[in-house]
Amino acid sequence: MKVVNVNEITKYYENKPENLIQILRDIHQKQTYISIEQLQEIAQDLKIPPTKVYSAITFYTLLSPKPKGKYVLRICSSTPCHMAGSQDLLDYLKQKLKIKDGETTTDALFTLETTSCLGLCAFAPAMMVNNKIYGNLTKEKVDQIISDYQKGKEKESDCLKVNILNRGKEVILKNCGVIDPESIEEYKTKGGYSALSKVITKMTSVKVIEEVKNSKLLGRGGAAFPTGLKWEFTFRTQEKPKYIICNADEGEPGTFKDRLLLEGDPFRIIEAMTIAGYAVGAEYGYIYIRGEYEISIRRIKTAINKARESNLLGKNILGSNFSFDIKIREGAGAYICGDETALMESIEGKRGIPRLKPPYPPTSGLCGKPTVINNVETLANIPDIILNGANWYNKIGLAESTGTKIFTILGDIKNPGAAEIPLGANLKEVIYEIGGGIVGGKKLKMVQLGGPSGSTLTANMIDIALDYKILAQAGLTLGSGVVLVFNEDRRIVDAVRSMIHFFQHESCGKCTPCREGTKYIYEILDKITLGEGKVGDLNTLKLLGENMKDTSFCPLGQSAPNSLLNTLKLFPEEYTKLIKN
Ligand SMILES: Cc1cc2nc3c(=O)[nH]c(=O)nc-3n(C[C@H](O)[C@H](O)[C@H](O)COP(=O)(O)O)c2cc1C
Ligand code: SF4
Repeated sequence: MKVVNVNEITKYYENKPENLIQILRDIHQKQTYISIEQLQEIAQDLKIPPTKVYSAITFYTLLSPKPKGKYVLRICSSTPCHMAGSQDLLDYLKQKLKIKDGETTTDALFTLETTSCLGLCAFAPAMMVNNKIYGNLTKEKVDQIISDYQKGKEKESDCLKVNILNRGKEVILKNCGVIDPESIEEYKTKGGYSALSKVITKMTSVKVIEEVKNSKLLGRGGAAFPTGLKWEFTFRTQEKPKYIICNADEGEPGTFKDRLLLEGDPFRIIEAMTIAGYAVGAEYGYIYIRGEYEISIRRIKTAINKARESNLLGKNILGSNFSFDIKIREGAGAYICGDETALMESIEGKRGIPRLKPPYPPTSGLCGKPTVINNVETLANIPDIILNGANWYNKIGLAESTGTKIFTILGDIKNPGAAEIPLGANLKEVIYEIGGGIVGGKKLKMVQLGGPSGSTLTANMIDIALDYKILAQAGLTLGSGVVLVFNEDRRIVDAVRSMIHFFQHESCGKCTPCREGTKYIYEILDKITLGEGKVGDLNTLKLLGENMKDTSFCPLGQSAPNSLLNTLKLFPEEYTKLIKN
């Protein structure tokens, strides 16, 4: 193991305990685990108990207190990769390397693990080796990757270009794949930073908030809360300092819309955060990016530096009295940190355990101070709303669901990829016209909308508008915008088992219904798929799922059984068939 100088890293982060997770991430960039001696050094430098450091290391999957191989192979096991054969690849690697899942080869070169979604769903199956990512894997490609690493050739990440469908009418994706994402000049030639300049020179904070409120923009992170209202609540809270957080932890399996924006148009996100800071009176911003998004982290770092050099971040922006700066915080492999309260715990250097709400972030957020927390896609809308006005924005989409939404269209679909579409588009048209229909001309069996915590639709239910209100009236949610398509040959119970496996892995463990419920449900589903299920299992599954929904502490546990309960209702024969056989 390459031994890093821990003191240099803790000193760089000013020995502040709130930087603990970032310090641990930085150490893991250079070595694959943290030794007990290093753990004690960190605790000493930050003046915190060693147990606090240990508790953080053992919470996040990208951190480890135990030695691992030089290269950690993490095979994505979430549903889109599962559908594309990730289990076969895992079995192949186990055989090839002669180790089990979680073990290290005797030469200490490779450790084999599974991981939750890597955001490479359009290139499933995928894997990560240390922090490099590879997609469209086949056994031959895996052989080549392993052989290169055995020879000491550390391969660059695959440069995988997502297929952006329905091009030509985008609002927020229009620069992606068109401009050089590292060039602030190119961003400016496309109108970049005109909105910030307009805000600073011509608008008061109240006017900016009014414009965002009038646009009726709803948060795109899943909860669809009105963005303008969130900003107004934070503006009205008198306490200082105030914070802007961009939630770039995107971990919902099947979702990679934020990655497209972070990689393809990073200045847009930085500009939007700065406008949010101006609107609510915040001087500090954090962008929390999941650790698996190596390229996004790199691009955002470059964008922040270039914006600072151009006086578009930092003190007295564009010669005004307004100062605002942004720090990056990297996630360390925990889906729960996408939840806004868990995310703030993580930025404060702790395990990502959700907080009780209320209070809500606008009154008591990061370090107990007023905080706006917005999703990447939500923020991406801001510059255009400011430049073109709320009236212009209201003309896109429907009356109550304005603007566009990025959908990631995946699974058994002819043209997998991402598409930015006005809200209110018909799901059937999205699948058959934009997505090109089902691969091999097969029939559609099921659509999982919004990821594993979202909604389940049968083929008869897809003639519906993708609109927050209309879907809610039908008891459905849009979630993060995943459209995962299953053909007639898919075994629904396998898919549900894979979704529950995800939640079992990602449960933070704080409350019993979610911690134990996900485990118990997974075990029963596993038995059923192996043909060892009993008739009474279905009732047990239903009771467990309903109990989790009613009694779990946070939305993760409350939504984890969605796919199970929905499919028990919509596809009961899929379960009984397996049990009877
Ligand atoms: C388990 C869980 C995971 C979440 N993951 C994300 C995420 O990856 N990105 C995100 O923006 N919001 C996520 N959210 C929603 C956030 O808590 C929050 O509502 C959102 O960041 C607010 O931004 P918005 O108003 O712009 O949507 C998650 C919520 C839960 C409960
Ligand atoms: S519901 Fe699950 S994720 Fe949420 S607090 Fe409970 S154990 Fe943690």
